[in-house]
Amino acid sequence: MSLRSLLLDKLPPEKLSLLPRGFEVIGDIAIINIPPTLDEEKYLIAEALSIQRKDLKTVLRKLNKIEGPARVADFELLLGKRTTTLHRENGCVFQLDVTKTFFSGKMYYERGRIAQIVKDGEDVLVLFAGVGPFLVPIRIKKKVNITGLDNNREACTFLRKNLELNYIEANIILGDARNMNNLFRKGFDRIVMPAPYGQDFFLDMVRSIMRPGGCVHFYTFKKDFEMPHFRRLLEEKGWKIGFFRDCGDVAPRVKRYVFDLHLRE
Ligand SMILES: C[S@@+](CC[C@H](N)C(=O)[O-])C[C@H]1O[C@@H](n2cnc3c(N)ncnc32)[C@H](O)[C@@H]1O
Repeated sequence: MSLRSLLLDKLPPEKLSLLPRGFEVIGDIAIINIPPTLDEEKYLIAEALSIQRKDLKTVLRKLNKIEGPARVADFELLLGKRTTTLHRENGCVFQLDVTKTFFSGKMYYERGRIAQIVKDGEDVLVLFAGVGPFLVPIRIKKKVNITGLDNNREACTFLRKNLELNYIEANIILGDARNMNNLFRKGFDRIVMPAPYGQDFFLDMVRSIMRPGGCVHFYTFKKDFEMPHFRRLLEEKGWKIGFFRDCGDVAPRVKRYVFDLHLRE
């Protein structure tokens, strides 16, 4: 039953029409955007959500956009007590606190796709690793040396915990990707980079830490009309686009895209 039908006899039609269409679920936590016009109904909405999804223990209201270096939003706790959860994805388990580290379940297909195409024996670097949704499935499925980097201390702590929970090993570095050229002396066969919004400049930096014949999986945010220009720019800079796809909407008219790239020899 939808949220709207659960609240049909509790809210007037003008308020029903303001209800958000969807919500995100991470582990047993629901995250919902409730507009200020439904402020007085926020607890009613949270209760309806928990009736709709009996597995939910916490309901959080997202108060603003994802911002700041740690890429986390502010939240208001509407139902439940805790903001830490266990989330399952691609056969892996992730512990995280949704108020302290970035996580989006929308990318599960991409994370599974990358884990499939990594080859045994590769040296792999995951930049902006977060709590490990790219790194963990790669390391579980393939025999690789893998390194994860993130500048959020909390994300690195959960990532180390997630290595334990999934019985794997990896090198985890708490550091700023801006220093990657000093941090890494050796080259990598494959670099996965879910770059933060508007920070495409990191793609120029990875050239010097790639092995010849290496591959980069580059995630970026673009408006539709920007794509032809961006693809031309990549080619001009010497990147060969092996594959690209639209990974879904992130804001009105803005989508996340992935590019699988090689440097032209
Ligand atoms: C878009 S999130 C991606 C997280 C994760 N890979 C995922 O897919 O859910 C960006 C991550 O990059 C980290 N980050 C942002 N700027 C950074 C920087 N300059 N150096 C290292 N990590 C950074 C944030 O802490 C956050 O965990």
